[in-house]
Parts: sequence; C-alpha cells; structure tokens
Amino acid sequence: MTRRSDDRRAIVLSALRGTRAGVSGEVLATELGVSRVAVRKHIEALRELGYEIEARAGEGYRLVCAPDAPLPLEVRPLLATGFFARLEGGRVTGSTNDDARTLALDGAPEGTVVLAAEQTTGRGRLGREWTSPPGGIYASVVLRPAVETPEAIVLPLVVGLGVAHGLDALGVHTKLKWPNDLLCTDGRKVAGVLLEGLSEGWLINWIVAGVGVNVRSAPDADRSASVDEFFGRRVPLAEVAAAVLDGIAGTYRRWQAAGFAPFAAEYERRSYLAGRPVRVSDAAGRLVAQGDVAGIDALGRLLVATGSGTVPVVAGDVTLRED
Ligand code: BTN
Repeated sequence: MTRRSDDRRAIVLSALRGTRAGVSGEVLATELGVSRVAVRKHIEALRELGYEIEARAGEGYRLVCAPDAPLPLEVRPLLATGFFARLEGGRVTGSTNDDARTLALDGAPEGTVVLAAEQTTGRGRLGREWTSPPGGIYASVVLRPAVETPEAIVLPLVVGLGVAHGLDALGVHTKLKWPNDLLCTDGRKVAGVLLEGLSEGWLINWIVAGVGVNVRSAPDADRSASVDEFFGRRVPLAEVAAAVLDGIAGTYRRWQAAGFAPFAAEYERRSYLAGRPVRVSDAAGRLVAQGDVAGIDALGRLLVATGSGTVPVVAGDVTLRED
C-alpha cells in the first residue's frame, strides 16, 4: 500500500469513527479530493483488512467494528511519540525481525516498524524458537544509532526497559531478567527482546530491535504469562503495540542523549535477579560465571559475585540456581 492510500484510508476511518450515523460516499469523496469510485475502493480495502463497514442506501457508510490487530491504521493514532517514521504489517508474518531486516537493508530509515499479531517462524535468543501464536504483539524496529559498535552492547537492556515502561503505562508492572526478559513477579515470562544487526567494524549500519509480548495467551502455562491475565480482560492489541513502541522510543532517545549510566539504578531496582544465585552460560552451554548477582554496572554488565571475586558478564544465558 502506498503512503498516500494509507493516509486516505486513515482519513476515511477517522470520518467513520467521528459519527455513529453513516457518512455518505459524496462527503468522503469531497474530504479526500477523490471520486466516489475511489472512495468505494478504499472502503473495500479497509474491509479486506478486517474492518466491518456497512453501506446503506441514503445513509452512506457506517463503521460497525474494527479488527483487533496491530494494524498501522490502528496503532498510528495511538502513538504519542513522533519517532516512528513508517509502520508496516499488522497481521501474520514469518518473523517481523526478518521483515524489518529486509527493509533496513533496503535503506529504511530509523523508526521503521514491522508489526504482527502472529508469527510462523518467530525467533528467540540463542537460536531458539519464539512461539508466536495469534493474539500477541510481535514488533521489530529499525534503529540506526550514531554510536560505535561496542557502545550498542547495552541496547537490549535499553529496549527491554522501554518495553517495561510501555507495559507500565498499561498497568502491567514487570521485572527485568538480564539481559532481555520481562517477567511477572512469580518469574513467568511476559515479553522478550531480540536485537540483531549489521555493523562494519565499529560503524553500525542498522539494528533491528525485535519484541514479542504475550497478550491474549501464554504459550507455556508454567513459564509464561499474558498481558490479559493481569487485567482479566482483553486489552486491544493496537493499544499494547502503541504503548510498547512509545516506551522503546522514550528509552532509546534517552540512551542516545546520555548513555546507559542513567538507567543502571532503575534496571537494578527492576532486576528479577538481584541478589539471587545464578549460573551464567554461553551459547554452547559452557559456564561463564556462577555466584550471586551483585548488580548491573554502568556499562550494563551483570555483576556476579563468585568465590574468586566479582565477574562482570557481558553476554550469556542466566539460570537461577535453587541450591
Ligand atoms: C527471547 O526471549 O528469546 C527474545 C524473543 C524475541 C521475539 C521477537 S517477536 C518479534 C521479533 N521477531 C522475531 O522473530 N523475534 C522477535
């Protein structure tokens, strides 16, 4: 869909939303500066996206209901920040990270987002599958930070905090499990973050920040939780998407201005791991550090107090030791 038709469909929708009575094709045609045939085409396109729109002789078009999906047309009006240059998708895809990466390679600007409510080949960290049933929020944002590659190591933490802020705004308060999980207080996972990117030496070309949030359902009842569980009601997917995106824009901008140091205390406060005994392993399962979590430093490293001193951990998979 071109930018223009996107804009026109947004105008049609806002006119339909502005009244309980119908809006005539003629009024819409005048508002858009197009023919009534073109208006009909926009109405058809909206119906294909899942909008139920009635057409009655003499009364015009009436919006009966909008789809519960993170469609750009639904999410865009809810965004508070102007960070997001371009929104795409909104239904089902293989992996939004793959789609965003294709756009990034094609030169898409920072703030381009791909959204989906379902993924068929969702990816998690360390090559794991990210189960992405319908009724989730799967979003990938193209970032082009003007920093050198080593400085971007903290970005998963910054994005994770942004997602936490977005969920806070909805009334869903989460803990952070370093480096990129969002958990309820009982330890079940609500959301995860996966960053992928391309750099040439110390120069970052692009980064795709992918976020998956369980909204309607939790894929694994014992280990995951959903946003709806917090409320006991269905939170519109577009609302969750907009809140999470605004949260990410907020922390990302702040990080660009001041680095990670201002976030360290907050990350620490929200840390699910604070003071707990952990085992950190690398992607191959080899032990990186074992001991009690002593904090997060100003560089975003997990500090693990081992028998032989405190080890700052840059990357790894953390499991709680129950011994
Ligand atoms: C993790 O906890 O392992 C990270 C999960 C990140 C999943 C998101 S969903 C949107 C984006 N597309 C993907 O294929 N993965 C990320």
